[in-house]
Amino acid sequence: MQETRETILDNLGDGPVTGPALAEQLDISRAAVWKQIEALRDAGFTIASSDDGYELTDLPEFGGLAVEYGLDTPFEIEYHESIESTNARAREIAAGDTADVVVLSDEQTGGRGRLDREWASPSGGIWLSIAIRPDVPATHAPIYTFAAAVATARAIRQLGIDASIKWPNDVLVDGAKIAGILTEMEGEADRISWLVVGIGLNANVAASDLPAGSTSIQAEYGSIDRRQVTQTILVEFHALRSNVDDVVPAWRELTSTLDRRVRVRTGREEITGRAVDIEFPGSLKIDTGQDVVSVAAGDCEHLRPVE
Ligand code: BTN
Repeated sequence: MQETRETILDNLGDGPVTGPALAEQLDISRAAVWKQIEALRDAGFTIASSDDGYELTDLPEFGGLAVEYGLDTPFEIEYHESIESTNARAREIAAGDTADVVVLSDEQTGGRGRLDREWASPSGGIWLSIAIRPDVPATHAPIYTFAAAVATARAIRQLGIDASIKWPNDVLVDGAKIAGILTEMEGEADRISWLVVGIGLNANVAASDLPAGSTSIQAEYGSIDRRQVTQTILVEFHALRSNVDDVVPAWRELTSTLDRRVRVRTGREEITGRAVDIEFPGSLKIDTGQDVVSVAAGDCEHLRPVE
């Protein structure tokens, strides 16, 4: 059934095609073609009919078929209307030896953030997890998180929203969080077995449905076509994961952390000073006044400049 609908969509996308021609190609009756066209219309596809036949003139904004048909990316897409966590599902997929798969959902019922925090994921967001198998040592894993933050910030900025990245990987607008990244991995020290990069972007979500200190694309700009924004994120991410040397320079251009006072809590210690740079694969260099220290991971707070 799904395959028939995809074949019909492929045909209708190329211009008008008549019902009898479709029926012959698919080896089904004209009545069955008509039923499929109606089902596609019900699913949100705009299909015009004229003397020349049927023609696809618009796609639904999101949904399984729209995403599978209308997303042109180097990843296989698994779409869910609702799922507990796209990261959890992507981990299952990755552990089963498959890679370059994206799990995408309209809502998550148990979305997870960094440090095991909850991640509010109401319907309308872009909640996705990318399962990849890069042939690199485990110490390089953070570069993929940075690549995801760059890809997400670029997609948001294409809408005209002034998004920036707070080290390591929060995407902010005017200090409020609009997107976050959660990366999970398995492997040995010398080689990653799999990596799941989860991206949560508050897209068509009211700010009142999000925790304090968060914002959304809807609040900053209005509702968007999530299919297009998802496409941009995945294409940008693919370009960066294919050229990881581009990630740190791209991140530097988009960050609001460098050259400002920060406090970083690593779990073991608290470091305060001026953030001066990041270095591959993502450590933050902080000038404490006495020393320049390099921090691989932690929670970062932007501080006001000292008077
Ligand atoms: C953070 O704490 O900033 C990271 C949030 C990451 C949330 C995303 S939403 C898609 C994916 N699935 C999850 O359960 N979490 C990540």
